[in-house]
Amino acid sequence: MHSEEYSHRGIWSSKIAFIFAAAGSAIGPGNIWRFPMMVGNNGGAVFVIVYVLVVVLIGLPVMIAELSLGRHSQRNPVGTFERIKPRTPWKLNGYLGVLTSLFILSYISVIAGWAVGYFIKVITGTFTGEVTSQFTEKVFIEFTSNQFQVFLFFMLTIGITVYIVSKGIQGGIEKWVKALMPFLLVLLVFLAIYAISLPGAAKGLAFYLNPDFSKLKGSVVVYALGQAFFSLSLGMGIMITLGSYIRKSENLISLAGWVCFSDTFIAILAGFIIFPTLSAIPGTSPSTGPGLVFQVLPLIFSKIPGGLIFGSLFFILLFIAAVTSTISLLEVPVSFAIDELKWSRTKAVWLSGSLAFLLGAPSALSSGGMTLFTKIDFMGTIDFFFGNLTLAISALVTCIFIVYVWKLKNAIKEIESGIKRFNLRFLWIFSITILAPAAILIILYFIKTITGFSSFN
Ligand code: TRP
Repeated sequence: MHSEEYSHRGIWSSKIAFIFAAAGSAIGPGNIWRFPMMVGNNGGAVFVIVYVLVVVLIGLPVMIAELSLGRHSQRNPVGTFERIKPRTPWKLNGYLGVLTSLFILSYISVIAGWAVGYFIKVITGTFTGEVTSQFTEKVFIEFTSNQFQVFLFFMLTIGITVYIVSKGIQGGIEKWVKALMPFLLVLLVFLAIYAISLPGAAKGLAFYLNPDFSKLKGSVVVYALGQAFFSLSLGMGIMITLGSYIRKSENLISLAGWVCFSDTFIAILAGFIIFPTLSAIPGTSPSTGPGLVFQVLPLIFSKIPGGLIFGSLFFILLFIAAVTSTISLLEVPVSFAIDELKWSRTKAVWLSGSLAFLLGAPSALSSGGMTLFTKIDFMGTIDFFFGNLTLAISALVTCIFIVYVWKLKNAIKEIESGIKRFNLRFLWIFSITILAPAAILIILYFIKTITGFSSFN
């Protein structure tokens, strides 16, 4: 997230400063929009259980690993691999992160654009009066197939992201985020309480909380793993970058623990809004794909007193949460270009922003699930490859790098610099050497069996 040259690299002023920055990057559309969609498409409670296990057993250890790499090297991801093992192909893993960031940025910006469109819909009264699930579905389809509008809001998001990143991010957006993220939390808690108290909520809660193990398939694990890496912002070097500004005296395990906890908490909260509402309102289905949040929430907003205010606030906050993610996503290629290619910030921002714009255009035009180019669901395909696959591959390479190149004893020395004793070190070693690589390998092996190559079927 920082852009200073090595000579004046910054350092987090406190533990809280880091947690806010890392949680700001982790908490985004991945929690509010993508997590409920994944739960809906992958069997409900079973997915939630697998997801939490994956976060604790794989996500947290990998986050600790990425932070320790960054704190050790004090470099951006490409520079990190280059510094530890100079002039070898290991740095390609850093490049993979840069590429993945660009692609994720491209389609997250489309979703952020939808949030802007929905904000306008809410304040102009689209969802007042008698609102049914058929109606919100129709609104969603009409909205996403209005390519001019979707494209306009997508351009707006990329434009705002480019503007903020070109100014450097510290002064403006970080202050905003610190003020607004707690607000998002309060709003989500309120909406969840309301949703749970709706008559008919029980069935949705059961779908969300009572596992039906017959739904446990290989694909559930693949998507849970992909979702964990996506939501925790792992596997693309952002945690290496953020870790490079952590003081040696800080406890990396507790920092990573806080980030994983808050990210997972927000995602689970979003589910407590979506699924009870779904079952309280007849005619809805949990597997509506990318439109899930956009079709379900307006139903609540039309029914609660002050729905207009809650609704507009919600979509504004979703947009803000998205923009705090898009700026750190854009910062990945930008800091790479500044550090390694010696470009000016302005040049780096404009070129990377334009590239993300070009890459995102097909997603914007293919309107999520509803395709413009016959049968090719661009957003679904890009989400599958860059939101699930390359993140996992990059995390696998990072584990191998730590174990066999950088060596575990150096990693442990780095982690132990901020703590007295690394009590769970055997668990961490087990995860980094065996569990995480094995899980990812198994998944890569079985990937062929997952039908459709899309998360939206
Ligand atoms: N974690 C973000 C979310 O949940 C998305 C994301 C993935 C991200 N990787 C990132 C954001 C890297 C910033 C940096 O929406």
